[in-house]
Formats: sequence, structure tokens, C-alpha cells
Amino acid sequence: METDKPILLSGIKPTGAPHIGNYFGALRQFVEFQTIGTHQCYFMIADYHALNSVQNAGHMRELTRELVLTFLAIGLNPDKVVIFKQSDVPAHTELAWIFDTITTMPYLMRAHAYKDAEAKKHEISVGVFNYPMLMAADILLYNAARVPVGQDQKQHIEYARDTAEKFNRIYGDTFVVPEEYIVPDVAVVPGIDGQKMSKSYQNTIPLFASRSEIEELVMAIVTDSSGDRPENVYQIHRLLKSEHDLTPLYEEHKGKYKALKEALIEDLDAFIKPMRERYAEFAANTTVVAETLEKGAAAAQERAKEKIEEVRRAVGVA
Ligand code: ADP
Ligand code: TRP
Repeated sequence: METDKPILLSGIKPTGAPHIGNYFGALRQFVEFQTIGTHQCYFMIADYHALNSVQNAGHMRELTRELVLTFLAIGLNPDKVVIFKQSDVPAHTELAWIFDTITTMPYLMRAHAYKDAEAKKHEISVGVFNYPMLMAADILLYNAARVPVGQDQKQHIEYARDTAEKFNRIYGDTFVVPEEYIVPDVAVVPGIDGQKMSKSYQNTIPLFASRSEIEELVMAIVTDSSGDRPENVYQIHRLLKSEHDLTPLYEEHKGKYKALKEALIEDLDAFIKPMRERYAEFAANTTVVAETLEKGAAAAQERAKEKIEEVRRAVGVA
């Protein structure tokens, strides 16, 4: 699969059921890049990152399996892209350590995720504090030039960029400086409460939701009665239909939130149904997850090995 195309890499943590925010913000772009074929693509299950919040072995295995099935169900093809698990490539944690040694505490203390956790008076593990360095390692280990993500990950990519530049300054030109790829229109998909949709806020519409779940969740979307248009309903609806189609519908049902929610239920179900069916097909296959990860691990390990050897030589431990 090795080619001279530029590298693209992204990752998702196995921390819960993937939702439509993940899909429109990130996953859909993964499939598009696979289709256009401009890059050599790596899509990673960030299980070491997930350990910061998932601390039960059985649960971790199940969430990891669900994420592989998700990648397959949305259309990623292991013959065309590398689908792999972070923990299958030990060089990620090794490189994160090397980055730790050139990174200061005040710099990491400026990270949004750390500041938010501190503001909420959460107990912060060293893993959470150090999150941006492991993520920088994920990206830089593969010479990734492009990283498709949602808006909330922008700062993390800046950390990866800064780290590449700092390392290159100290040890000589070693890393490609990556760029984020964020689609402005879908950068932040709102949840059913109007905040950013997130697994951590219990406000998601799962990507493979059943019809009855969709009905329940859409009916629970918070509507504010001040405007003509139920904004939280519209912001989700516009992911599925063009403004051209939605404007007359929202005009016709002005003030009738129930009718608009019913229309959204139909559109969401039509959109989710084929993916839900593909998910069930892959889930019934008892070998596909292990085969996908085995194949991906071999490809990722091969590329990472070359890079980590270069880094070891650059810092003088080899
Ligand atoms: P969550 O916040 O639900 O835990 P993750 O951190 O696993 O989601 O995010 C996986 C990918 O999905 C990232 O690229 C992230 O930027 C994107 N993403 C997550 N939530 C949203 C959202 N509400 N809108 C757009 N993109 C999102
Ligand atoms: N931090 C990302 C998130 O929360 C997941 C992630 C881990 C990632 N490593 C990555 C994304 C490398 C892009 C590239 O969604």
C-alpha cells in the first residue's frame, strides 16, 4: 500500500457510541478522502487516549470493536486505507515520551481541555495533562501532512505543529509540520440540548440509532420559542438537506415544532438506515474486526518503525 502520496491521518477515541456530530465533523471526510484517493490514509482507534476515561477492560474491548465496525459500516475499506489501533504500535508512547522532554508544563497548561477540566475542579490525571503530546506523536510518527477533525481538535493540531517545529529546531529536520482539515459548515454539530454534541454530554444522536431511538431523541430536542424557527432542530436538519429544500418546509410549518420534528425524524431515519444495516451485517461477521486490525497493525507498524528509528538516531539514543 506504500505510495508517494502525501499522508493523511486521523483518530477517534473508543469512548462511546459514535454520533452524527462525529460523522459530519470527521468520519464523513474520512470516507471522502478514501474516495478521492489524493492521500495515503491512516485512521486510528485512539485506545491509549481513551484509557483516560474508560477504565474497564471488557468495556474497552467492546468499544474498540464497535469503532472498527463503525469505520467499516460508513464505508472505509481496509484494502484502501489503514485502519489500526494506537496500542498496536508501541512507537506512539515512545515518541510521546521524547516529546515530553522538549515540552514545558506552562505550555501544556494552556491547553483548552486541561483548562476546562481545571475550571470544573476535576481531578486531572497525568494522562489527560499529557494528552496533546501523545496526539502529536500519533500524527508526526506517520509524517501526516493533513489531519481531518472537528473544530474542537484545532488546538491539538497546533500543539502537534509546534512540537514538530521545536523538535526540528533542536535536532534538525525530522518531522513534517501537519495542517488540520476542518470543514467550516459542520465544524461544530449541536446536540439535542443545543450545546456541542458530545459523548461526554449525553446529548447525542447515535450514528446507528434505531428508528425508535431517533424518534425519542428528536422529540427531546430543546426548542426555544423566541424565534420563528426551532434553531436546534434546523441546525441538525441542515446536515441532511439543503437550504433550498428546508426553507419552504420551515416556512410552511412556522411555529409548528412538532411537524418539523416529524420531518426531521423521517430524514434522519432515511439517512441512518443504510448505515445501520451495514453495521449489523459487519457485526454478524465473527472475523472481520480481528482481520481488519491485524492488517492495519502490520501496515502502521512498518511505517512507524522507520520513523522512530530516525528519531532515535536524531536524539542520539541509537
Ligand atoms: P466526543 O466529543 O463525542 O467524545 P470525539 O472526541 O471522540 O467526540 O471526536 C471524534 C471526532 O469527531 C473529532 O475529530 C472531533 O473533532 C469530531 N467531533 C466530535 N463532536 C463533534 C461535533 N459536535 N461537531 C463536529 N465534530 C465533532
Ligand atoms: N483527540 C482526538 C479526539 O478527541 C482523537 C485523536 C487522537 C486524534 N489522536 C489523534 C485525532 C490524531 C486526529 C489525529 O477526537
